[in-house]
Amino acid sequence: MWKILVVDDEPSVLELTEIMLRKLKLLDREIHVISAQDSEQARQAMVENPDTALIILDIVMETRDSGFEFIGYVRNTLQNNTTRIVIRTGESFTGWSPSKIANHYDIHDYVEKTRLTKERFLTIITCALRYYQHILERMRFEEMMVQTEKMMSVAGLAAGISHEINNPLNIILQSIQNIVRHTSLDVPKNFEVANECSVELEPIHAYLEKQRVFMFLGFAKEAAQRTASIVADMLQFSRRSDTEKEPANLIELVNKTVELARMDYNLKEQYRFDDIQIIREFDSNIPPVVCILTQIQQVLLNLLNNAAQAIYNQMDNAETETSKPQIILRIQYKGEKIRLEVEDNGIGMDEATSKRVFEPFFTTKEKGSGTGLGLSVSYFIITTNHQGEMTLESTPGLGTKFIIYLPLS
Ligand SMILES: Nc1ncnc2c1ncn2[C@@H]1O[C@H](COP(=O)(O)OP(=O)(O)OP(=O)(O)O)[C@@H](O)[C@H]1O
Ligand SMILES: [Mg+2]
Repeated sequence: MWKILVVDDEPSVLELTEIMLRKLKLLDREIHVISAQDSEQARQAMVENPDTALIILDIVMETRDSGFEFIGYVRNTLQNNTTRIVIRTGESFTGWSPSKIANHYDIHDYVEKTRLTKERFLTIITCALRYYQHILERMRFEEMMVQTEKMMSVAGLAAGISHEINNPLNIILQSIQNIVRHTSLDVPKNFEVANECSVELEPIHAYLEKQRVFMFLGFAKEAAQRTASIVADMLQFSRRSDTEKEPANLIELVNKTVELARMDYNLKEQYRFDDIQIIREFDSNIPPVVCILTQIQQVLLNLLNNAAQAIYNQMDNAETETSKPQIILRIQYKGEKIRLEVEDNGIGMDEATSKRVFEPFFTTKEKGSGTGLGLSVSYFIITTNHQGEMTLESTPGLGTKFIIYLPLS
């Protein structure tokens, strides 16, 4: 829908414009007309509708140049440089020519009421709307580029740090293992060494057990292993696509991964993955896709995990019985690409969240339960390692859909 603000102090002009535009569709979209009879109403309208595509503006209203003042308000006070402004005026008291006005004010076009046919008017509006759309697309693209760049630099940093953490971490893990082994009653050599030192191994072992030293070592080991798995995730960021790629049957891969997620989930969580209905919508003519199998599987696992969590969050959240929990998996053959979708009817997310989910370490989970690496690693695998695309669509309270495009080779 296009929002068009018409500003004119002549009620009949407002009405005629509205009648002309109301039922129209321009560039495939309907038009929503907002009318303002003076610049005060116009300002109010712009504050309430910053997404107005076009303003059709009269100049002489309460004062001889209230239209010009209004342009200053939009461009300078509201800092809105996207909305197109077309001046439609009866007469100009400034003494300036239209070209001089265009030179001075950031407007899209200038037309005189007396010379304006309906056809000409519609042409101007259509061109202005198309231009507005180009500006929006460009802005979105730039925003995306900044976002991607930010992600990539954080990812690079993460990979660098992981390399550094890896060595000391291995020392910690090995040392824990050594302590356990050197105090174990199952290693005959330990008895020899104890003998050499004139002590008994069994009471030493009993003492350590009683003081819960082995339990603490277990905690240390668990924590170190968790760190190791985070480090492994972060190291993905530095791994280029030099690992062997091979043709894979995506349908098989997806089915296998669902089984894996099912086992994994049922083992770890209090919720049951089996309660979620998995709907498969697979095209029958899917050709083999050249990819790194384990990586694509990891992406799918991340998406399934997130989907399941979103669904359970939704169930916890909803007071009344909501729709049956389900995940829809789609595989489609599109041109030279495969389109893969994972759609859930979970809790969804707002726009601010969905803009950030691919950032490394972005998570909405409580501290310690999520690393926020799942989606950023997935994004990296799809875009950098497979030259694919990954996007999402989400509606709060209704669900989320992740869309992946993979090139065939
Ligand atoms: N299907 C989804 N529905 C709703 N929100 C989602 C969904 N998938 C991801 N999110 C949001 O994106 C955030 C980041 O996801 P990501 O997988 O990167 O990390 P995480 O799940 O928080 O942690 P980890 O994957 O390490 O357990 C999540 O915390 C959640 O807020
Ligand atoms: Mg996750």
